[in-house]
Amino acid sequence: MVAKSGRRDFLYIATGSVAAIGTGLYAWPLIDSLNPSADVMALSKIEVDLDGMEVGQRISVKWNGKPVFICHRTPKEIAEAELDDNNTKLIDPATDVERVQRKEWLIVIGICTHLGCVPIGQKIPQNRGPWNGWFCPCHGSIYDTAGRVRRGPAPRNLDLPPYEFRDNAMVNIG
Ligand code: FES
Repeated sequence: MVAKSGRRDFLYIATGSVAAIGTGLYAWPLIDSLNPSADVMALSKIEVDLDGMEVGQRISVKWNGKPVFICHRTPKEIAEAELDDNNTKLIDPATDVERVQRKEWLIVIGICTHLGCVPIGQKIPQNRGPWNGWFCPCHGSIYDTAGRVRRGPAPRNLDLPPYEFRDNAMVNIG
């Protein structure tokens, strides 16, 4: 099963175990209790169709039980991230190019590295913090447009999931 990005903000998708998805969310707890291993397998790899995702748009998908943020970065967001590559004040130093495979696409696990809250900033007009990335309201951590932590208490950047672009419109996560 393939996720279409379109204009939806949060997608629950998976490849491989079509039956689990096809039955609908209401049936999920029953399937989950009967066969948890299938559940894990179904979510361990997903395929996301990025076609139609506008520049500047952010979507969330669920992979391996975790939210993954996909950000179609604007030239300004890319420039801001690259400008801060050599910022000696970075809590967890990393260059932008170390965090993306393609400049226009940032793909990160949307879990704050402090205590595991889901940062806000996926939707406009949510607070994205002064670096235009994400803000974690739990204890105030702030991330930039490369998903790097710029203000703690989070100790490190947003984690990167394993992923691979299949072509210009499809990405496999997991
Ligand atoms: S969980 Fe995000 S700042 Fe504490």
